[in-house]
Amino acid sequence: MGDTEEKNLLQARLILEHSSSVTVLSGAGISAESGVPTFRGTDGLWRNFRSENLATPEAFRENPRLVWEWYDWRRCAVKDARPNPGHFALAELENQKKKFTLVTQNIDGLHQMAGSRNVLEMHGNLWEIKCTKCGLITKDYRVPLEELPPLCPSCGGMGRPNVVWFGELIPMEVIDKTLKAIEDCEVMLIIGTSGVVEPAASMGLVAKQAGKTVIEINIEHTPNSPLFDFTILGKSGEVLPLLYTPRMAYS
Ligand code: OAD
Repeated sequence: MGDTEEKNLLQARLILEHSSSVTVLSGAGISAESGVPTFRGTDGLWRNFRSENLATPEAFRENPRLVWEWYDWRRCAVKDARPNPGHFALAELENQKKKFTLVTQNIDGLHQMAGSRNVLEMHGNLWEIKCTKCGLITKDYRVPLEELPPLCPSCGGMGRPNVVWFGELIPMEVIDKTLKAIEDCEVMLIIGTSGVVEPAASMGLVAKQAGKTVIEINIEHTPNSPLFDFTILGKSGEVLPLLYTPRMAYS
């Protein structure tokens, strides 16, 4: 680790230590060390699949089975993934703060598996299926799914992944809660996101404009880096555990 990184790390640690309310925005990068592929970058999912062919309502209308095959493949790819030290560090940080909200663009559920409680899923959840007819949302952890597309256990309608596709709106309630969490926090951490997909991409700027301290953690600079207070370059699974003091266990 270079001098700048060391300095940024120490500064972030001090800032976090003295803050009682923290909001986090995480992206695919935080799950990379758990073996979940990111979207962009050399091994990114979108390099091998065209998003407009698969993650849109139009694609689903045209070929629901193809879209489901891709989601079923992603479910299989994620099923054995476990949280990494970055996920666990955030769960521990939540325990230490008076107010803590974790907004994630990820749909893999690894934050919750690590113990994070106040999680807002901006883009939905890979393990939920929503009926296109009656709207029922069911949790379903089967991999692979027995039938594609899966059918609603209540009305027999066609199920779709309960995720937000390109061209769809993020539920207003999630946006409202995210904005409130930004308003309420002193420090915002932006972790493992390329910052190119809206509205998540603008949340750091919203925080900056509201006078919050915004710290980015990423293996490389992003287009938004210049807007933030500083960027800690490094893997989130290595950086995050260094950002807080673990509580002592007393016997
Ligand atoms: P991306 O794949 O666009 O970006 C991943 C980011 O993580 C990049 O900036 C990497 O440099 C960084 N990264 C990779 N490994 C890392 C590590 N170990 N530690 C820290 N950072 C690391 O993923 P997102 O920004 O999450 O949306 O993508 C946003 C949205 O685009 C996704 O939620 C998805 C996609 O299209 C939908 O499907 C609606």
